[in-house]
Amino acid sequence: MVCTQSGLAYLPAEPVVLRTVGDLRAFVRACRGRGETVALVPTMGALHDGHLTLAREGLKRADNVIVSIFVNPTQFGPHEDFEAYPRQPAQDIQKLSAVGAQAVFLPTTAEMYPEGASTSVHVKGITETLEGVCRPGHFDGVATIVTKLLLQALPDLALFGEKDYQQLQLIKQVVEDLNIPVEIVGVPIVRDPESGLALSSRNAYLSPAELVIAGTLNKTLFAMAEKIAAGKSLEAIRTWGVTQIKQAGFGNIDYLEIRDAQTLISVTEKDDRPLRILVAAFLGRTRLIDNVEA
Ligand code: PAJ
Repeated sequence: MVCTQSGLAYLPAEPVVLRTVGDLRAFVRACRGRGETVALVPTMGALHDGHLTLAREGLKRADNVIVSIFVNPTQFGPHEDFEAYPRQPAQDIQKLSAVGAQAVFLPTTAEMYPEGASTSVHVKGITETLEGVCRPGHFDGVATIVTKLLLQALPDLALFGEKDYQQLQLIKQVVEDLNIPVEIVGVPIVRDPESGLALSSRNAYLSPAELVIAGTLNKTLFAMAEKIAAGKSLEAIRTWGVTQIKQAGFGNIDYLEIRDAQTLISVTEKDDRPLRILVAAFLGRTRLIDNVEA
């Protein structure tokens, strides 16, 4: 892309690539020195429009956006896809350049977890349900790496997607409990415009036939939200949803739940509280998650 301003043609600057915590801190210090604000977008890379939307939202709210890319080993279970997780930093940097992000933080595992590192962050309550039950230890890994990234960069704000709804609620809890002076901003789920499938790096694992089935998941959740609004029984709606998802061709359903939107505690009857419908289900070997408000 070539932009013109005041008659001069120029290419947008490439994001600065930061590889150490020291580089990251120096970058943030330089921003502060110019009186500028900083937003952080933590990711594991293989960037798609969901991630890029977080970066764009960051640019609306701050002078500088740093996107971190780190496939965090501590949040993967022993039988999960840590090794297979897509890694494509060169393509990611290109995409971030087009969006206009100022910096990319690309640390090594040794930089994030030096030998002897023995502290982790554990959050009670909200981690003891849904993803926390299905993926033991996952949220300790997430809470630890996000706490580290926030303390390393100390940005003004950090942006997270509602795609990982329970993760977002957990991070808000960590920041409140540990007095981390960073504003946490939640960004709505970015979906495929045709199928409504929530964009995810793991969608790359799906075959063309599975992609068609995957597109039905969000439709079931939105239909459940409509039924809740119409005053139907929550348990009947849940049972209906399970049947729909099975009939569409999904395998094991880890959970399909209607919960309090803030605490994620079970709700048996609709009252004034905002609710969230959350699902995790397998399509072949790929585990998909999604959620909608109700
Ligand atoms: P990752 O799965 O790469 O996601 C990075 C961020 O992008 C998360 O906040 C996630 O919720 C958001 N995101 C992903 N897909 C989205 C979509 N379709 N719409 C909106 N936002 C979306 O989540 C993680 O990485 C990691 O757990 C991390 C927080 C980086 C810690 O390692």
